[in-house]
Amino acid sequence: METHKQLTIGLFGFGVVGEGLYKVLQQTPSLNAKLKMVCIRNPEKKRNAPASLFTTDKDVLLNDPEINVIVEVIDDADAAFQIVSTALKNDKDVVSASKKMIAEHLLELLELQQQTGRSLLYEAAACASIPVIRNLEEYYDNDLLHSIKAIVNGSTNYILTKMFEEGLDFKQALIQAQQLGFAESNPKLDIEGYDAVNKWTFLLTHAYGITVSPSNILFNGIQDIKAGDATVAREKNQQIKLVAQAKKLQNGKVAAFVLPQFIKQEDPLAFVKNEYNGVVIESGFADKQFFYGKGAGSFPTASAVLSDISALRYQYKYEYKKLYHHVPHELSTDVFLRVYVSFDDLRFIPRERFEWLEEWHAQEERKYLVGVISFSELKDQTWWKENNTSLILTAEPVIEDVEIRKLKKKSLELAGIL
Ligand SMILES: NC(=O)c1ccc[n+]([C@@H]2O[C@H](COP(=O)([O-])OP(=O)(O)OC[C@H]3O[C@@H](n4cnc5c(N)ncnc54)[C@H](OP(=O)(O)O)[C@@H]3O)[C@@H](O)[C@H]2O)c1
Repeated sequence: METHKQLTIGLFGFGVVGEGLYKVLQQTPSLNAKLKMVCIRNPEKKRNAPASLFTTDKDVLLNDPEINVIVEVIDDADAAFQIVSTALKNDKDVVSASKKMIAEHLLELLELQQQTGRSLLYEAAACASIPVIRNLEEYYDNDLLHSIKAIVNGSTNYILTKMFEEGLDFKQALIQAQQLGFAESNPKLDIEGYDAVNKWTFLLTHAYGITVSPSNILFNGIQDIKAGDATVAREKNQQIKLVAQAKKLQNGKVAAFVLPQFIKQEDPLAFVKNEYNGVVIESGFADKQFFYGKGAGSFPTASAVLSDISALRYQYKYEYKKLYHHVPHELSTDVFLRVYVSFDDLRFIPRERFEWLEEWHAQEERKYLVGVISFSELKDQTWWKENNTSLILTAEPVIEDVEIRKLKKKSLELAGIL
């Protein structure tokens, strides 16, 4: 077997991540990787690198037989898919950071890797500097992965931190995040949860062998969260975070979702502030493990790209073990969620669709309830995202034994206790 392969890199993109990688590569000569050419979009932009390195012609890189690694860090998901698929077909290994492209084309990319035998690595696409994909792929290679729960989007976490710690309302916090470069000028992808659910699709593949398109996962962002919700959380000594979660159920299937959630102070995710990301993995015997690190930024992201490049020296590939070598898990909607819902007008809240209500606060101007509702109701209906309604999962949201609890409640009622 060939070891420590000589790597000759063709780089697509010289923005935040691309330029970061260029600098990081210069500081790691031991990697023995040569950057041969960089393809960018705008030839007029001034670059902090020799002009001879740049081209706008993608084929110069894709058809160069000496280039054996394509690194794709551009900000256009459609063009990225063209580049990545052509590179694989042209017998090159690929490193990418484009979560949107990977989430949208996962099945095609799986097939292309199988057909070509080439490697496609994308550690930077999930939580930037946190090595979560390779850990899920290599370490948690068994049936014991009970749950995975994560903050995977730095922009939304920054905004929520400011709402909590400085009492800013959502709009003020968003403007501050944009001014500091933690949120895009068009923040929809981050704020409305698309970025987080994109990452969650392929993390589910590495964790549980599940292949699902982002639109089939129950998700929402933080756009509806009110300062009043933050006040309620503080009263309960909790915080609110945008949390991506997957939990193995008693029926052997997996419930997965990306929703705002109340987080208790003792939860490791409460420690994850500002633009940081965090992942809590719960597995049999090992109990909980917590990964923490920067989820964005030039050098943190480039460090994950560099680690993937380095892994290519010894022909590392994702084996997608949970998908190909185990019986892949299935997603289930057969579960119930305990939710907090705040609203202005009761008429828009279908109380009869809740299994039961645990709290009801109707006196305040901004009203709220806590109740248990079926997962399918949220998946199939949209009332909870409309009319200024805000839905946030409670700290322990997944309920599987709803019928047993109902029976217990009924017998207590019959006995005159409730
Ligand atoms: N920034 C982060 O912290 C971070 C973290 C994790 C993952 N990512 C992902 O990494 C990727 C790059 O992000 P970024 O923040 O570095 O973006 P960016 O700063 O906006 O830079 C994008 C780069 O892509 C180039 N580009 C766009 N379309 C191209 C095309 N068709 N052909 C060649 N070059 C093209 C642009 O060229 P010009 O310079 O000529 O405009 C620019 O250099 C994205 O997929 C992003 O989601 C970013």
